[in-house]
Amino acid sequence: MIFVTGGAGFIGSNFVLDWLARSEEPVLNLDKLTYAGNPENLASLQGDARYAFVHGDIGDGELVARLLRDHQPRAVINLAAESHVDRSIHGPAAFVQTNVVATFHLLEAVRNYFAGLQGEPRRLFRFLHVSTDEVFGSLQASDPAFREDNAYQPNSPYSASKAASDHLVRAYHHTYGLPVLTSNCSNNYGPFQFPEKLIPLMIVNALAGQNLPVYGDGLQRRDWLHVADHCEALRRVLEAGRPGETYNVGGRNELANIQIVQRVCDLLDELAPRAGGSFRGLITHVADRPGHDRRYAVDASKIATELGWRPAHTFEEGIRQTVQWYLDRPGWVERVKTGAYREWVQAHYQGSLQ
Ligand code: NAD
Ligand code: DAU
Repeated sequence: MIFVTGGAGFIGSNFVLDWLARSEEPVLNLDKLTYAGNPENLASLQGDARYAFVHGDIGDGELVARLLRDHQPRAVINLAAESHVDRSIHGPAAFVQTNVVATFHLLEAVRNYFAGLQGEPRRLFRFLHVSTDEVFGSLQASDPAFREDNAYQPNSPYSASKAASDHLVRAYHHTYGLPVLTSNCSNNYGPFQFPEKLIPLMIVNALAGQNLPVYGDGLQRRDWLHVADHCEALRRVLEAGRPGETYNVGGRNELANIQIVQRVCDLLDELAPRAGGSFRGLITHVADRPGHDRRYAVDASKIATELGWRPAHTFEEGIRQTVQWYLDRPGWVERVKTGAYREWVQAHYQGSLQ
């Protein structure tokens, strides 16, 4: 069986659902259920004997040690994290706590578990740490895309805390021989993404007739990848990645934020037209994110040549499917827009959404 952490979040729930759609191998999911964790994403697995959920913190060493002892997983896939850059600017402490301190406790528990393994289970065991391209910092317009050997230059509390966790993971391989794998992925989009992130925020705001807040000039660039392609990359890395190696994952799909927002508006104009004219009319430029990274781009040639992974979704097909996914689930959207969500939006955008 495999042990997934953070499986009730955006990528985690896609990963768990994809895994169980393709394999009979059971999944244990440990998730703290922060504001970003949503068990409803995994409701379709209720009664499925291959799936077990534990509500808890990766920083709880005793709990993790007990789960490892009781379930004897062949791999740990660590997706648990605080993941939103803007929240890290408002409140960095939670990011240091989960992404650094709690990840350290998780690594300690896994190191002890691994030390007790022998034979095949020891030879096959893997710890897959899911990280981000943001650890490499910001690119100039003419710079080549991030490669695995680029220097780490994190710029936000979020990316700094992820960089710290990557370094710990690396050290546990180098020092203790823990068979770790690290993936550094670009911006994901797709089903179940919490509407604090750019694409779902724009869809959800547009449907509510609210402004679409574009930071600064909107010309910051990101490399967008459908979450299903990321999940496939994680399965490939787990299956065939070389312990101690890192793998960059990206969509070769660089777009400016304003292009993304315009595309979402155009799709909504087509799929759910509104009386007041094009959704583009709701686009509003607001104050920029402090320290905003201008550009990310990922060179994913290592994972392509070594592991044969390439994205299967085009952006055009993926974004259409994603907009339709949100349109089809007004109940899901309403339920995640709880009091806590409203408070965040209110505090962060300070009334600029109307
Ligand atoms: P998310 O915020 O949607 O989900 C995070 C999940 O982790 C939630 O279910 C939350 O409850 C859980 N969690 C948080 N702290 C925990 C703790 N201490 N113990 C146990 N569970 C905890 O995040 P996401 O977008 O799904 O990202 C998952 C991972 O992938 C993160 O490590 C993130 O850095 C990385 N990543 C994300 C993207 C992206 O575009 N979303 C891209 C590259 C890498
Ligand atoms: O690159 C991978 C990273 O992508 C992941 O590690 C992070 O977990 C994930 O959140 C994401 O980080 P970003 O900061 O790039 O994603 P976000 O969706 O928050 O923002 C994308 C871009 O859109 C960014 O340039 C900021 C901008 N933006 C975002 C919001 C929420 C806006 O212009 N307006 C907004 O309201």
